[in-house]
Amino acid sequence: MHKVAIIGCGGMSRNHLRGYLATDRFEIVALADLHEEAMEAVDREFDISPVHFTDGRRMLAEVRPDVVSVCTWHIGHAEWTIAAAAARPKAVLCEKPMAENIGRAEQMMIACRRNGVKLAVAHQRRFLPAYTLARDLIAEGAVGDVQHITTLGGQGLPNYCTHQTDMLRYLLGDDACLWVMGNIERKTDRYERNTRIEDRAEAVFQFACGARATMLCDLTPSFYQGARIYGAEGMVDLTTTGLRLLNESTGGTWETRTPDGRFAKAKERGFEWLEGAAGQADELADWIEGKVDAHRGQAENGLQALQMIHAIYESARCHERVDLPLETRLNPLDLVVDSGHLQPQRPGRYDIRVGRLRGENMESDSVL
Ligand SMILES: NC(=O)c1ccc[n+]([C@@H]2O[C@H](COP(=O)([O-])OP(=O)(O)OC[C@H]3O[C@@H](n4cnc5c(N)ncnc54)[C@H](O)[C@@H]3O)[C@@H](O)[C@H]2O)c1
Repeated sequence: MHKVAIIGCGGMSRNHLRGYLATDRFEIVALADLHEEAMEAVDREFDISPVHFTDGRRMLAEVRPDVVSVCTWHIGHAEWTIAAAAARPKAVLCEKPMAENIGRAEQMMIACRRNGVKLAVAHQRRFLPAYTLARDLIAEGAVGDVQHITTLGGQGLPNYCTHQTDMLRYLLGDDACLWVMGNIERKTDRYERNTRIEDRAEAVFQFACGARATMLCDLTPSFYQGARIYGAEGMVDLTTTGLRLLNESTGGTWETRTPDGRFAKAKERGFEWLEGAAGQADELADWIEGKVDAHRGQAENGLQALQMIHAIYESARCHERVDLPLETRLNPLDLVVDSGHLQPQRPGRYDIRVGRLRGENMESDSVL
């Protein structure tokens, strides 16, 4: 059993917990949160009794866990991953988006490398059977050469849409994104979990294999995790629970496939969350134990998903097509707003996730 410690015991920590416990390969030994009641709620919900710490660094020093889950808001991801790496666990599983900027994401990787720690970023939809089926169908040539993929997001680029940039690469066999061109609108002073975001965005991504993708964010009445994939010889319509395939072998009509997972059935309530989290945790155990050479969520993939998002901001900042890897280490949206070039026309900072905070906090918990 690998001993797990969790930093940040809010909503998403539940998904890590569910995943670890479903595999029977992990034991939850410690929790850290600024709020004792957040940790008590976890104990009650999962019927577990880990030790509690209101200071994450003290927890790391005293508990010496094998695995650390970082589940604070985005701005805490680099801080806590680097702190965790210094305590030399076997692995860190950090929530997405990987970091507040590319420079910090690179520091996370360096800290983990120099301490011999495996680092994965929680883009858990890589473990959904429908996503993997779509990737396999594409690799087998079921839709011919992929020409175009479309995807719709919302709630700001860094939060929701890093899942989508990560999905695009996963579908294309982790192909490299060569360049990004995009634009944003930001008339209000909008934040998501204390991270500055735009009001709307759109982007084009060019991949090495020749495929292109477009992403609209906060531009459509509804959005979802998934994609429409257009190939030279067919199409796939992908959601988190299943897909529809149309090609010559389906007689030119849509054929539906809803594969079950290893940990849950596709029709079960909460399937997407349990299957993604448990698959991610199980592969983490395999990785730690040397049974696999790589984890699907390994840091290199988390970094590229974030680079594609920040390249949209950089494209909007510089009015150009941005080649990857991105060379700007700071957050280009912060650069353009702080330089005075994109002042909100309707002033007044607000955070679309402020409802998650406790007590009197209206912007953020401290993350340090
Ligand atoms: N992978 C996914 O699909 C997915 C889904 C939802 C959220 N997330 C990510 O998970 C992260 C957390 O989001 P959430 O919705 O769980 O937030 P949340 O507000 O529900 O929980 C965050 C917790 O971190 C605690 N915290 C803050 N600073 C701390 C510190 N210094 N030390 C210890 N604890 C601290 C807070 O008290 C809170 O309990 C975000 O980065 C978000 O993007 C990922």
